[in-house]
Amino acid sequence: MTLVRPRPGEEHEVRTGSRSANWHFLRSALALLGAAAKTEHVEIAMYEGLIRKAEAMGADDIVALLEENLEQEKHTLEEVKQAAQKLSKELATQTA
Ligand SMILES: [Fe+2]
Repeated sequence: MTLVRPRPGEEHEVRTGSRSANWHFLRSALALLGAAAKTEHVEIAMYEGLIRKAEAMGADDIVALLEENLEQEKHTLEEVKQAAQKLSKELATQTA
């Protein structure tokens, strides 16, 4: 398998001389994105719990900080989902 760096302006891309190697690369990347999505879901659940506790304590300043973090986690999850969708489509074309 030969990995080639993307040229400036190109999206990250792996070029291989082997279709099978590229398929395995895409599968591995999708697995990693799945793990990343799982982590983001856990973090979102944790922040939601912390926000409920801070609200119950009347700690509005803390709630505001936690909500900022929660939004960052949701944003990251969305980016991970979009990357996984893109790779899934690419993988589908490899197996078609
Ligand atoms: Fe995160």
